[in-house]
Amino acid sequence: MILMNDFKAEPPELHQAMLGAASRVLESGWYVLGREVEVFERQWAAECGVAYGVGVGNGMDAIEIALRSLGIGPGDEVITTPMTAFATVLAIVRAGATPVLADIDRQTALMSIDSARRCITLRTKAIVLVHLYGQIRAMDAWTELCAARGILLVEDCAQAHLASLNGNMAGSFGAAGAFSFYPTKNLGAVGDAGMLVSDDEALARKAAKLRNYGQSVRYYHPEMGLNSRLDEMQAAILGERLKWLPEFTTRRREIADAYLSGIDNPLVKCMAVPESPQAHVYHLFVVNCAQRDKLQAHLRTHQVQTHIHYPIPIHQQESCLNIARDPLGLANSEHHAATCLSIPCHPQMADAEVDVVIAALNSFSGE
Ligand SMILES: Cc1ncc(COP(=O)(O)O)c(C=O)c1O
Repeated sequence: MILMNDFKAEPPELHQAMLGAASRVLESGWYVLGREVEVFERQWAAECGVAYGVGVGNGMDAIEIALRSLGIGPGDEVITTPMTAFATVLAIVRAGATPVLADIDRQTALMSIDSARRCITLRTKAIVLVHLYGQIRAMDAWTELCAARGILLVEDCAQAHLASLNGNMAGSFGAAGAFSFYPTKNLGAVGDAGMLVSDDEALARKAAKLRNYGQSVRYYHPEMGLNSRLDEMQAAILGERLKWLPEFTTRRREIADAYLSGIDNPLVKCMAVPESPQAHVYHLFVVNCAQRDKLQAHLRTHQVQTHIHYPIPIHQQESCLNIARDPLGLANSEHHAATCLSIPCHPQMADAEVDVVIAALNSFSGE
């Protein structure tokens, strides 16, 4: 089977380095929020081109803590899209704010700026812009809209490690960027992990308090925080995996290029190419097909694993049926959810496997 991810096929040198990092932490006798976390926070903030990184427990908490650190809470509206991980919306709800869903653009599956404009009210405090599948696009338009309307921009970068536009990194455009290091992400830990990045010192300080019960110094709690601390083991392992991230990202782009030039079947549509090669890190390579379920079954018979990101848009989730949304509806998100299919695109794929996937896609007849 050609898998969506294949960690066991990673280079033995990386495996060795991770073992070394793990034993360093075990021998240190210090396991949560320590030197390894501080080093990795500095490294990742530098990669993102910003001054501060605050390591947290996961990507969802990174969004919640970013919003809360910006003073967003009850009574405030936050715009995002229904074509995202449930965590994006759950983080807004957990911050106490009200999510409002804007539709996506069909060609990219990213939030439509026209739809977002229709969602703005006097209560809109922030937009959580999801760099879905690893692509960042049209950032000037988003930063201009937010500046003009006095709205804070928070980037959900869970899928966009190292994506950049005109030299500016994902996570550096808004007030804060939120990263997930869930194992399957482009930079993944061996458990849950996340980080909030920002150029704003006050925000970073507040976030560092919130992640640790709202504690300023030990046993003093000026804020009601949460427990979302990054542990030393994950930070040490992430530091090793970071060394491989540029090479792994290049390989993802090579595979995507092979797909873009090799997929030649009118029934299978690739999504729009990025504004520049650096603007997409292909966390996922997604195609659209009107007979998506048949295509998925066809690929399975050719030993190709696939996933669907995402099969149910947020507003059709049982817990979100009454969620606020664009008054014109969310038709593009619904269409995308019914037709999208993610095909394998991970750094350990061999050229021969890429060829198998292309041949399997091109042999789909819809029958
Ligand atoms: C777009 C997006 N946002 C947020 C998250 C949440 O990250 P985590 O699973 O680390 O909480 C994810 C990961 O699933 C994601 O893909």
